[in-house]
Amino acid sequence: MYSEKVMDHFNNPRNVGEIENASGVGTVGNAKCGDIMRMYLDIDDNGIIQDCKFKTFGCGAAVATSSMATELVKGKTVQEALQVTNKAVMEALDGLPPIKVHCSLLAEEAIHAALWDYAEKHNIKIEGLEKPVNDISEKEEEEEEDY
Ligand code: FES
Repeated sequence: MYSEKVMDHFNNPRNVGEIENASGVGTVGNAKCGDIMRMYLDIDDNGIIQDCKFKTFGCGAAVATSSMATELVKGKTVQEALQVTNKAVMEALDGLPPIKVHCSLLAEEAIHAALWDYAEKHNIKIEGLEKPVNDISEKEEEEEEDY
């Protein structure tokens, strides 16, 4: 049911932990399943993400997607990190079962929340970044209503 890459990132998640004095920290959850993810970013003066760590209290797909997301944003600029969408994370993992797609949204939102925190702390505006939500299940409902 899961790709080899998903299993690999679930069994050996990369970049688990915290960053002390992180440039930005974002925490998001999904009230429907109760899963929570926290993402830490270390961003240098040139706006390059030097390090990224995460902690996930959640399902296997949430662990695998956050692990892959941290790998994808490392070394990127803030703007490039915005392109690390849940679709990009899923592609990098060779896909997720449809019922687990929502778990990858947690990773995308956690990155956005950490970037938002960074922008607020530095008094800057990141073009294209919307204010993140604490509970992504609210967002899912909005999306569902659009159909
Ligand atoms: Fe909640 Fe996967 S079931 S994030």
